Amino acid sequence: MNLISIHDLKRDVIEGIFSRTQDLKEKGVSGEAPLSGKTLALIFEKPSGRTRVSFEVAMFQLGGYSIYLGQSDVQLGVRESIGDAGKVLSRYVDGIVLRTFAHGRVLEMTQASSAPVINGLSDKLHPCQVLSDIYTIREKRGNDRMKVAFVGDGNNVAHSWLYGAAKVGWELSIATPPGYEPLPEVVREALEDAKESGAGLEVTNDVLEAVKGADVVYTDVWTSMGNEIEKGEREKAFESYRVTKELLKKTGKDSLVMHCLPAHRGEEITDAVMDSPQSIVFDQAENRLHVQKGILSLLLGEQ
Ligand code: CP
Ligand code: NVA
Repeated sequence: MNLISIHDLKRDVIEGIFSRTQDLKEKGVSGEAPLSGKTLALIFEKPSGRTRVSFEVAMFQLGGYSIYLGQSDVQLGVRESIGDAGKVLSRYVDGIVLRTFAHGRVLEMTQASSAPVINGLSDKLHPCQVLSDIYTIREKRGNDRMKVAFVGDGNNVAHSWLYGAAKVGWELSIATPPGYEPLPEVVREALEDAKESGAGLEVTNDVLEAVKGADVVYTDVWTSMGNEIEKGEREKAFESYRVTKELLKKTGKDSLVMHCLPAHRGEEITDAVMDSPQSIVFDQAENRLHVQKGILSLLLGEQ
C-alpha cells in the first residue's frame, strides 16, 4: 500500500493509522522493534526539517533503518529515469519517502517501485502533514465534528486539508486571496468524498466568513518551496490574510491555532499568535513523529 493522497485512503485505513499512532505514542520508546530489518529510503528534492527527522527517528525507534538521499544523490530524471531508480531502489529497501516538486514525479515513482511509496510533500499535496494535524486536533478536542479555517494559500497543505476534512466529515473553510484558490479538480474530488462523510467544504476570498465559528485557525507560508520567484507579488496579495490576534477574535471561540511550520513569523502569522496559549504548533510538530510511526508500522509492517 502507498500513501500518496488522503483521497486514496479509505476511512478505516485513516482510523487504523490513528489507532496505531495512539498505541505507539503511549508505549513511547519501548524497545519493541516491529520494523526490525526494514529499511526506508528518503529521497528529498526539497529541504525539510520535520518530515525528514520524524521519519528517520520513527524508523530508528521502530527498530528499522533509514537512508537519506538528498539532491545530489539519486538525481531522479538526471542520472537515470525515475522509473529505473524506483525499480532499483525498491529491490534494496522496504519503503520510499519522496519529497519533490511536480506531483507526477511521486506517481511515477509509485508506478516503478515494488515497495510502498509515501508522499513526503509534492507541489500538490502533503498528506502525512494533514493526517498528523487531524490526529492532533482530535487529541486536543476529542472526536467531535470540527470547523477548521485554513487562511492563506490554496497550496499543497490546503489541498490535503480538503481531502482530509472530506474523509473525516468535518467543516473546512479555506480563505485565499483571489487567484490563489485551491485547484478546482481537488475541490471537486473532495466534494465527492464529502457527500459520503457529510463534510462541509467551502472556498472563499472572505477571511472573516471563513474564521467565523472556527474551532481551529490554520495557516501556512504564503510562498511555498519552488515558488520563491513570486515572493514579492505574493506578499502584497496575502497582506490581509495574516493570522493576527484581531483575526482570531473573529472566530467567536477559544480556537486553536495551527501551522504546519516552518513559519515566517510576521508574514502569515504574528509572533503574538504563534506564542499565544491558543497556539498548538509545537505539539502539532511533535505529532509528526508519532503519526509517521503509525504510517510506517502500517505500510512497512504488513509486508
Ligand atoms: N511541516 C513540514 O513538512 O516541515 P518540513 O518542511 O520541515 O519537513
Ligand atoms: N506549503 C509549504 C509547506 C512546507 C511544509 C511548502 O510546500 O513549502
